[in-house]
Amino acid sequence: MKKGMILVLLAVVIMTSFAQDSDNSGLKALVNHHAARNFVSGSIARSDLDAIINAGIRAPSARNQQPWYFTVVQNPDLAQKIVPQSQDGNVLIVVSSFGDGKTNGSQIFDCALATENIYLAAQVLGYGSRIYTGPMDTINSRFKAELGLPSGHSAVALVRVGRVQAGVDAVSAASSRKRANDMVNYK
Ligand SMILES: Cc1cc2nc3c(=O)[nH]c(=O)nc-3n(C[C@H](O)[C@H](O)[C@H](O)COP(=O)(O)O)c2cc1C
Repeated sequence: MKKGMILVLLAVVIMTSFAQDSDNSGLKALVNHHAARNFVSGSIARSDLDAIINAGIRAPSARNQQPWYFTVVQNPDLAQKIVPQSQDGNVLIVVSSFGDGKTNGSQIFDCALATENIYLAAQVLGYGSRIYTGPMDTINSRFKAELGLPSGHSAVALVRVGRVQAGVDAVSAASSRKRANDMVNYK
């Protein structure tokens, strides 16, 4: 067989194996995540927290402005004031940005991408995670100073990260999603 032909065949094999590989770990992380409900107490290694924050920092942003700031709440009393269900060892990662946390579309969008990265990175590392926007009004009206948010910042979202009950996986814990057939149109 000619060398060129072999190279083309090799490229096709590699491309199809990437596109269709159901074991692809990146795709698995995107598809199998779920919002944890069964948090239990237990600590999170500092190196894992650093890796989770680094995933947030690596998010894309409009004009690469990276408008976010991350406040890592490890203090259990403060965590419970913000998310009353917080268990010992749960960490809240508050994502904040300039403004009121609501109206600057691009910044909010960028913060959402960073939030998603944090949420997924925690699960890739074996923790449970859940995104919250419910407590934002409470944070922004009462806890900015205690959290030490940067001047002029408001919280946009937070990710709760913690240990989860063993044996609860995406199959048993994720809620259903709309069917792809109803949500996409290929032209
Ligand atoms: C932007 C956003 C805000 C959310 N806010 C809250 C919240 O305030 N409280 C809460 O319990 N869950 C919150 N969630 C979690 C969602 O309820 C959860 O992601 C959704 O029900 C899907 O869950 P599943 O992936 O386990 O199926 C939020 C999720 C997102 C993406």
